[in-house]
Amino acid sequence: MFSAETLQGKHIVVTGGGSGLGLEMARGFLSVGASVSLIGRNRARLEQALKDLGGDGTRVLLHPCDVRSYEEVQNTFSSIVEHTGRVDGVVNNAAGNFYCASEDLTSNGFRTVVDIVLQGTFNWSQVFGSYLIEHSLPGSILNIVATYSHFGSAFVLPSACAKAGVHALTQTLGVEWAHHGIRVNAVAPGPFPTEGAWSRLIPDEKIEQRYKRLLPTRRFGEKSELANLAIFLLSDLSPYITGECIYIDGGEHLRGGSFNFLLEYFEPEDLKKMFRGLKSKSQAQK
Ligand code: HXC
Repeated sequence: MFSAETLQGKHIVVTGGGSGLGLEMARGFLSVGASVSLIGRNRARLEQALKDLGGDGTRVLLHPCDVRSYEEVQNTFSSIVEHTGRVDGVVNNAAGNFYCASEDLTSNGFRTVVDIVLQGTFNWSQVFGSYLIEHSLPGSILNIVATYSHFGSAFVLPSACAKAGVHALTQTLGVEWAHHGIRVNAVAPGPFPTEGAWSRLIPDEKIEQRYKRLLPTRRFGEKSELANLAIFLLSDLSPYITGECIYIDGGEHLRGGSFNFLLEYFEPEDLKKMFRGLKSKSQAQK
């Protein structure tokens, strides 16, 4: 279905593009002719991503930027447009997540994840969308939600709330901006192994095996499968799709995709102990 020209001449911004699924989607966009801007907080990680992509800095631009800051997003967007002359798509992929019993969450812990996921998606969508509207240009926004966006999930309250908000944002802007030629869609990935998600959410073999058993396909996703869907939704192959959320999860959500399954296998106190251990480990690595 795709050719080397599917995204030819288009410039796509990928937030959280320095690693994991963001990096793999960027790789996919490059393979079908696009140029990309990778957005991330950590410059060293972005430099590593450039090496991984085999880029020389002509088709891959790097922009350190914290998606939580509207001002940083505005400045970054302006400098991309100055450099490339155009932006055709934005993928709101930057995310934060961790397990925590909700009674143990701090206000700042909740806010941090909501700021990255929901506020960050708003910031990029609004800055990009208002630019397109001002210049009468078409464009496409792709948001990343989760299999638990509709029904929530135990132990990831901030992420569940933020992803539900991103889904509402997708449907709202899908309608509001359609007549401007701006499409706004979402994908809801099931489990795709990445260092960021696995170290926080699938920390041991036992959990991994139990999770896999819940999946109708009995396997995790391949990153290239997600990249293909993202290419399709950003390209001119899907001009009549907007406000939509497509699950790419091997059927997981039909079986109630979420981390609720942990309650079936572990005692609440043991889970809390595990969550505290994960928090200490991630803080020690900072
Ligand atoms: C409880 C925690 C915590 C944890 C941080 N906090 N980690 N609380 N359990 N494990 C609290 C801190 O105590 C602090 O609150 C507040 O959150 C901010 O923490 P910081 O470490 O200062 O924040 P920051 O450095 O900005 O890091 C943000 C982060 C971090 C979200 C906490 O995890 C991160 O950078 N994540 C990015 C990558 C990521 O998460 N990838 C996974 C995405 S997977 P106090 O009150 O103490 O100040 C995904 C989809 C999953 O989204 C679906 C898969 C199947």
